[in-house]
Amino acid sequence: MSKRAVFITIEGLEGSGKSSVIEFLENLLQRKKFSVKVFREPGSTRIGEKIRKILLDKKNKEITSHTELLLYLAARTQLIEEKLNAALSTYDFVICDRFFDSTLVYQGYAGGLGELVEAAVKLFSLGIKPDLTIVLDSCVEEGLKRIKNKDRIEKKPLDFHKKVRDGYLRLWKIYPARIRIVDARTNLEDICKKVEEILNRERYQAKK
Ligand code: TMP
Repeated sequence: MSKRAVFITIEGLEGSGKSSVIEFLENLLQRKKFSVKVFREPGSTRIGEKIRKILLDKKNKEITSHTELLLYLAARTQLIEEKLNAALSTYDFVICDRFFDSTLVYQGYAGGLGELVEAAVKLFSLGIKPDLTIVLDSCVEEGLKRIKNKDRIEKKPLDFHKKVRDGYLRLWKIYPARIRIVDARTNLEDICKKVEEILNRERYQAKK
């Protein structure tokens, strides 16, 4: 099966408004008569959603950083093999709410596992790479304030989340052709306008 979809990943800090932007993007592309499939990470498969529960459950304080890494990778390989590969050869656009950049930033840079994560991510992304990654760059403190019932990751110290932001900016400098940073400190309408401009610049042509 050959890939036909444009694979877009949406990344960002906690409370950066990814879900609203993904909803906007999905509607925008569907209005342009593209077929669109949306996934989230970790999750979007039965196994992946179970792994998500383990990872985000704030009671699971004893999870070690290596176990955490392996669980995120396990959820990802399950998604790729069970659904993503097929979606990439079926749909015009596949959008994923987080993908391997989250692992590079959360477990690698902020989590301190560094090069091990880079090697593991390369191995367990099974050759899948986003065509375009939009990072919603928001205010760390404001984003965290917006979340009422914090999960295990959201509960990590403020310094961790500041490193996550720094990690995304570093990745953007390394991969400027793939990664676009969108200032998400404004209102949703402005953020969506910027996302639409990025898509227009990429000149994705209607296939139907
Ligand atoms: P979210 O999808 O609601 O943002 O929740 C997923 C959480 O998991 C979020 O805190 C980021 C974190 N995460 C990682 O730490 N590593 C990863 O590889 C992924 C996909 C998510």
